[in-house]
Amino acid sequence: MLQKRLYIKTYGCQANVYDSGRMADILKPLGYELTETPEHADLVILNTCHIREKAEEKVYSDLGRIRPYKDDKMILAVAGCMGQAEGAEIMRRAPYVDIVLGPQTYHRLPEMIARAHRSQDKEKGPGRGVLDVEFPVESKFDHLPENHTHVGPSAFLAIQEGCDKFCTFCVVPYTRGAEYSRPARAIMEEATRLCERGAKEITLVGQNVNAYHGESPAGQEWGLGKLMEYLASLKGLERLRYMTSHPRDMDEELMEAHRDVPQVMPFLHLPVQSGSDRILEAMNRKHTAKHYLDCIEKLRTYRPDIALSSDFIVGFPGETEEDFKKTLSLVQEVGYSQSYSFKYSPRPGTPGALMDDQVPDDIKAERLGRLQDLLNTQHLSFHEKSVGKTVPVLLDRQGKQDGQILGKTPHFQSVYVETTPELFGTCVDVIIEKASANSLTGTIVS
Ligand code: SAH
Ligand code: SF4
Ligand code: F3S
Repeated sequence: MLQKRLYIKTYGCQANVYDSGRMADILKPLGYELTETPEHADLVILNTCHIREKAEEKVYSDLGRIRPYKDDKMILAVAGCMGQAEGAEIMRRAPYVDIVLGPQTYHRLPEMIARAHRSQDKEKGPGRGVLDVEFPVESKFDHLPENHTHVGPSAFLAIQEGCDKFCTFCVVPYTRGAEYSRPARAIMEEATRLCERGAKEITLVGQNVNAYHGESPAGQEWGLGKLMEYLASLKGLERLRYMTSHPRDMDEELMEAHRDVPQVMPFLHLPVQSGSDRILEAMNRKHTAKHYLDCIEKLRTYRPDIALSSDFIVGFPGETEEDFKKTLSLVQEVGYSQSYSFKYSPRPGTPGALMDDQVPDDIKAERLGRLQDLLNTQHLSFHEKSVGKTVPVLLDRQGKQDGQILGKTPHFQSVYVETTPELFGTCVDVIIEKASANSLTGTIVS
């Protein structure tokens, strides 16, 4: 078969990383091999994100950069959430794009590529592009190939898609569609294949992963806690994580899994967005700050060493200085090991964009600065506690320099170590020597 070059660039969340991998798997039987740069590629896929305006502008600027390499042979595709939300607009703004697709149709890529080639053979010009942004009734998961072609020591596995929460700032329910949970048996089969190919850690991913309510092998409904207990029986699986979760869906069984299932790592990314009940309500988060803090307290009784992470939005419409201070005090109360924080970005089609009292950008920027100063201090002090300790590190990524490998502690801290390539993919004991706000450095204990 003729060898073809495939370049994929992934924007956005872990679900997109998983999807990009699966697109490569689908295209492999057609002769496509991954390549590192878009020049000379036969197929370029930008797997995009629509969450904030910045993410979107980045895609248009990357499209502009790829355009000069685009010859008659190259097929250029825009996939992912921006494709779903803005398909027609992308075709208009960048008419040289051949294919636009959403996150739920990529199992049909081979067919789209064939159509794009046929229309390339015909006359050039706008309107010849292939657009597939349906939400097909059949699950894409039933149509994905069994084989994962690129499996690292730490793998993502999508167990759930979509979101029914409709937070007023968020595009995800529109781009990913309604919630769908994969059956536990299909997840176990995929997890088994990942472990057979060398995965030691699996992160279960989904837009709202703890809303998981899939069918158990015996035909009952299982939540995420039960699912992880089931997956923990898998030989070779050393670590389990999940991402991203909603505070409303932290049920008792899931919290107990942090105590009872040794493979479930002592780390949780649980976005709270704001510490003000007034803003949480306007965001339609459907919980209070107290509910969130109660969750954390309970988790800490089950797993006292659990490390916590969150997402924050500052400057949501109507946010006052007083509301913002409530976010700061929630942060003080919890103590985070890491976090992501953003200025509110009004998104077309979401209720937040139409709200009165939009907060001016300079105030958003000022609040973001104050919040990040506090968070960074917490991150650093969390990491500094690791210095002098010996921790198990799963070596899962190549570093930028020769001989340098990156790994992860159980608490999801990145660790740089100097070592030889044969240790890649193993879990080793590392004595931590240095800490920064974002990472650790250490030496392998022989
Ligand atoms: N499903 C996850 C979040 C997915 S989006 C959850 O429920 O928490 C990832 C993060 O992006 C969100 O947690 C939020 O902090 C941020 N985000 C989403 N929409 C945003 C917007 N319009 N402006 C700024 N940040 C946003
Ligand atoms: Fe977006 Fe809210 Fe759903 Fe998370 S829970 S994906 S923030 S709508
Ligand atoms: Fe972005 Fe879609 Fe993920 S909007 S954050 S890629 S679900």
